[in-house]
Amino acid sequence: MELVFATNNQHKLQELQAILGDEFKLLSLKDIDCNEEIPEEQETLEGNATQKAKFVFDKYGYNCFADDTGLEISVLNGEPGVYSARYAGEEKSAEANMNMVLEKLSKINDRKARFRTVISLIINGDEKQFEGIVDGEVLMKKRGDSGFGYDPIFQPEGFDVSFAEMELSEKNKISHRGRAVQKLVGYLKTYDNEK
Ligand code: IMP
Repeated sequence: MELVFATNNQHKLQELQAILGDEFKLLSLKDIDCNEEIPEEQETLEGNATQKAKFVFDKYGYNCFADDTGLEISVLNGEPGVYSARYAGEEKSAEANMNMVLEKLSKINDRKARFRTVISLIINGDEKQFEGIVDGEVLMKKRGDSGFGYDPIFQPEGFDVSFAEMELSEKNKISHRGRAVQKLVGYLKTYDNEK
């Protein structure tokens, strides 16, 4: 099945292509000649995922899915959450975002956090959503240099390494996005069989 993944983020494309394998042909926004900024103006991960997937389906006519992810820190009432990309400003700097989180938690012992991904899939106009969560904690300082975003300061529960110290394949198995994608793939397989 051909599906558009509504993103311009190469890291995410690579991660997802690795998880999906060749059962599904993943098209990027570039592949469908979509070079415009996709709107993400909602106040929830669910709202943004829907808005992005719907935009591509309505305007370009492809079945597609879009995801939205946030790092939710308990003691900060779920911040940065839906604002994760631009927590420290519109320049969307991962370094500045991590520094801001470390600063806000500098005197706080409760470092419980989770990554949460919501995927919205639109096939022939019908929407389905899938959620993936990984619990963990915010480290005291950055560790490792793989991955992207907040990876160097997030340690998943049950591990003693940060996401940025893991192999991509290892991260995919337990990550928020990996878990949401596993649900998506499970659904797509059933959907394909029913046709
Ligand atoms: P997006 O919705 O996937 O674009 O994610 C929004 C923001 O959350 C990104 O800009 C990153 O700062 C952060 N983020 C998303 N996924 C990850 C991840 O796997 N590791 C670290 N940070 C992430």
